[in-house]
Amino acid sequence: TQTFNQQGHLEIGGCDTVELASQFGTPLYIMDEAHIRDICRQYHSSFVKGMENTEVIYASKAFLTLAMCRIIEEESLGLDVVSGGELYTALQANFSPEHIYFHGNNKSSEELLMAINAGVGRIVIDNFYEMSVLNDLAKELNQQVNVLLRITPGIEAHTHEYIQTGQIDSKFGFTLSNGTADQALDLAFCYSNLEVTGLHAHIGSQIFELDSFRHEVQIMIKYMADTHVRTSCLLKELNLGGGFGIYYASGDEPAKISDYAKAIKDALDEACQCQNFPRPKIVIEPGRSIVGTAGTTLYTIGSIKEIPGIRKYVAVDGGMADNPRPSLYQARYESILANRSNEEATESVSITGKCCESGDMLIWDIDLPKVNSGDLLAVTSTGAYNYSMSSNYNRLTRPGVVLVKDGQADVIVKRETHSDLLRNDVLPERLKHVK
Ligand code: LLP
Repeated sequence: TQTFNQQGHLEIGGCDTVELASQFGTPLYIMDEAHIRDICRQYHSSFVKGMENTEVIYASKAFLTLAMCRIIEEESLGLDVVSGGELYTALQANFSPEHIYFHGNNKSSEELLMAINAGVGRIVIDNFYEMSVLNDLAKELNQQVNVLLRITPGIEAHTHEYIQTGQIDSKFGFTLSNGTADQALDLAFCYSNLEVTGLHAHIGSQIFELDSFRHEVQIMIKYMADTHVRTSCLLKELNLGGGFGIYYASGDEPAKISDYAKAIKDALDEACQCQNFPRPKIVIEPGRSIVGTAGTTLYTIGSIKEIPGIRKYVAVDGGMADNPRPSLYQARYESILANRSNEEATESVSITGKCCESGDMLIWDIDLPKVNSGDLLAVTSTGAYNYSMSSNYNRLTRPGVVLVKDGQADVIVKRETHSDLLRNDVLPERLKHVK
């Protein structure tokens, strides 16, 4: 929760951001623990308590660290991982493997082996190649593996093209409309070491329309009912993916978590009744909406360039390396002058980063009080897909992450140092000549 103290400083989780900047340096990712927990609880009460036989798993690609795993498990949510690296992080954090779902469109044999050995709850099979590799590995280990099949339902949710995933022309999953999904299921039922417990679909990300989810439920329940008639196999689980939208900037109007839950519940009841199909266990896997609004990035303003009559560029000490979303997806953000947050906005400026690219923009045309070099700028709603998509472009060091709660700030990821940049550099003997 953001408040402003008497000095006009922005406070997050009871911590003064000006003090955080001087203690931990900038750029700095600040994660508000109470906010994350509050959202987890809203998901839990709307989906788990509000609906029978439902599980909420956190899509860890949005933001994953050891501390985050602990919070998620304490809040009784499961975890969606998409790589050996995410799985490793979860296991190192002692996350219960049976509540881990393993996704991905090109999992390697090593990753699949790691998942089987760890005893993850579900592996979500994306394609025919993976299905056969997984069955072979499971057979060698004499194990039965619980799997879901990922289906591409052919829904085009209204979101940025690069974060749409449910449409037919997609690299993910088995296409429903052309019979591929039927073939995949028939094959999966024959594999001796795979136990098909249900289906998975994910229609995209940052979705505001409840209708997209209603539509997804209708299509998937109909397909499960058709499959039952066709094969007499009863699929008992339906994972609807994530994608619930959040507020980044004016114009964004996400539904409440309880509204998403109600839309899904009603659509489910109706579809099951209409198809005369027993209600499956429902799983949802939100990522962005659990951490997005809980994160703020704190920067120090450096150079300011004014082109009279055209634009004022205000440069901060980070940019596309810590937040690639504006340059990748034209994502919009808002910001607050953290050290003088009580002052009136008087001028329109554009916030740029320090990378050597003109496209390294964080925010175009935002109204702020008159800014000076040395001021602190807080960009809000940066909790999802910022740290997790950060890079060392231009050999910038990644910012640290602090977790704030009740006035206490704990480092959960250390700021990188210049020597971290060289950690994996190797100088071959023949280049080691003394200068
Ligand atoms: N489940 C699956 C299978 C997914 O592919 C995703 C996201 C999620 C769940 C979680 O979706 P969420 O609730 O976070 O919308 N880097 C992009 C977002 C890519 C999302 C990819 N898949 C961005 O920064 O907007």
